[in-house]
Amino acid sequence: MEKKNLEWGSLGFDYMPTDKRYVSNFKDGKWDGGQMVSDPDVVINECAGILQYCQEVFEGLKAYTTADGSIVTFRPDMNADRMYDSAQRLEMPPFPKEQFLEAVDMVVKENAAWVPPFGSGASLYIRPYMFASGPVIGVKPAKEYQFRMFCTPVGPYFKGGAKPISICVSDFDRAAPRGTGHIKAGLNYAMSLHAHEVAHANGFAENMFLDPATRTYVEETGGANFLFVTKDGELVTPKSDSILPSITRRSLVYVAENYLGLKATQRPVKFTELKDFAECGLCGTAAVISPVGRVVGKDEIINFPAGMDEMGPVTKKLYETLTGIQSGKIEAPEGWIRRIL
Ligand code: PLP
Ligand code: COI
Repeated sequence: MEKKNLEWGSLGFDYMPTDKRYVSNFKDGKWDGGQMVSDPDVVINECAGILQYCQEVFEGLKAYTTADGSIVTFRPDMNADRMYDSAQRLEMPPFPKEQFLEAVDMVVKENAAWVPPFGSGASLYIRPYMFASGPVIGVKPAKEYQFRMFCTPVGPYFKGGAKPISICVSDFDRAAPRGTGHIKAGLNYAMSLHAHEVAHANGFAENMFLDPATRTYVEETGGANFLFVTKDGELVTPKSDSILPSITRRSLVYVAENYLGLKATQRPVKFTELKDFAECGLCGTAAVISPVGRVVGKDEIINFPAGMDEMGPVTKKLYETLTGIQSGKIEAPEGWIRRIL
């Protein structure tokens, strides 16, 4: 198979349509078998539940070319599980997990020419999503749904790749107590867009959202979880019921404990504690691990000792081990890598 002629090393995190995408429809109480299609456009009724009441959930995962030329995905079963939970919370019929994995395989296989080569620093981002396609005018769940999965080759989420970013504490909340912050629903991201634009206009790469009930604990950003490293090398990740359970963060905790011999603790993290940490980073499928050099709050600026020039040493080890596992250079824990080609 001949690869597409793209400047793989210069890709940003942008959408570009590829050859094929997967579509399955839910009608009369069941999902159909699904098929691959060429048309990237979606045609739906003007009164579809997604358009009126935002009934939609999605996922994000990546396919990588490994050192030996195979094409693999990283823990896609975790995305299938999370999407199942997200759908249930929005009263949507969950998409069967086995069918989700088959769809990942098909999407990657039929777009293999778009999977960036090993060593290019780029990967194939896969976006599964499902939405209410049936009409609703009263506020209630729709009766019909569509599940789709497309992919697009991407480079780093933040310009500058692994260079530390500067973020600000948002005046807005991303989630509500007992709301939907813990699921991957488009509505959470719509909520965060204004805060995102305000942060960008003020020169920050991202927002740090605080807990919506008390605004004293650290939650997450618009698209990634936080990780912190203490001065004696312990990994600390915020615990909260209103943040997304990041697959990258859960994997990093395992990597820290089992590959790097570090202590890892998940607990509520007070904003006032930040000044005591040595390193800070964002983690997620898109973000991978992006170091944070500075957090600007209302009354204080926290400059992490790791600085604004490069990743701190523990963040770097975590980054290298995780990306080493994803690219086949380091042996993965059982079940983490799904080989597709
Ligand atoms: N938090 C939010 C709000 C996200 O959108 C994402 C991205 O998926 C994450 C965290 C990281 O999750 P994961 O590591 O599963 O990609
Ligand atoms: C991901 O990391 O997959 C996400 O969905 C985050 C989004 C901001 C691109």
